[in-house]
Amino acid sequence: MSTTGAAPDRESLRDLAVRVAAEAGELAREGQAGITVLDTKSSPTDVVTRMDRATEDLIRARLLAERPDDAVLGEEGGDDEGGTSGVRWVVDPIDGTVNYLYGHHDWAVSIAAEVDGVVVAAAVNVPRRGEMYEAVLGGGARLDGRTIQAPPAVPLDQALVATGFGYLPERRAQQARILLEVVPRVRDIRRGGSAAVDLVGLAMGRVNAYYERGLHVWDWAAPGLVASEAGLRVGDLRGGPPSEDLVIAGRPELQESLRTLLAPLGADTDG
Ligand code: IPD
Repeated sequence: MSTTGAAPDRESLRDLAVRVAAEAGELAREGQAGITVLDTKSSPTDVVTRMDRATEDLIRARLLAERPDDAVLGEEGGDDEGGTSGVRWVVDPIDGTVNYLYGHHDWAVSIAAEVDGVVVAAAVNVPRRGEMYEAVLGGGARLDGRTIQAPPAVPLDQALVATGFGYLPERRAQQARILLEVVPRVRDIRRGGSAAVDLVGLAMGRVNAYYERGLHVWDWAAPGLVASEAGLRVGDLRGGPPSEDLVIAGRPELQESLRTLLAPLGADTDG
């Protein structure tokens, strides 16, 4: 992507993300009742609904109406490969589609803005909880306008740890094997069904740590910025940035302890 003009300010990108996430969340909330599977993706369990597509279409249209020179990467529509502004939006219209399908509350609309490849602004709307999270890089994280800071670390054996499972059976089998080693060493496990809700929940202290293999950048871009701006470390298993191999997050001391537990288990491999 070639860049033209001055970099836009982060706050205006965040404000746009929040406005669009609010409208998209309302559309998706209204469409949840009676929703059915429209299609499947990587496996029969990896579903897409009419509302995933409609919500992403709305988000793309609203973002590009205001910023026609930007690029957009979305879970459902892929990478438009356009854009000359240096800004790329990374969008998950409904993170937690299976929760959405079954009428659960924990699903989210995630919109992040990258400038030259760095996530600088984010909005995560969890409509059925009535929660709008937002963050700018270096400017902190907020829930409904109030600054949030994650609570201090706890020792690993007292940690409530969230995780998730991929859609491919072989990967799930390895994730289950790893879980057998984790469960006896932590307070307990939660499988909420939305990586975005897990990561913003981590920022709120609803869990103490989170790890998952096989996420995509749209799963972590926006909620990962909210979490890191709330004082959490969000990375991979080897001390690098979050990746499809593994996303692992928590207060730095706890994230380190969890990495030490997971690394010899091959948690960033399929076994
Ligand atoms: C999924 C959710 C789930 C996680 C999966 C993701 P989707 O996103 O975040 O919690 O375990 O790995 O793919 O498919 O509902 O957008």
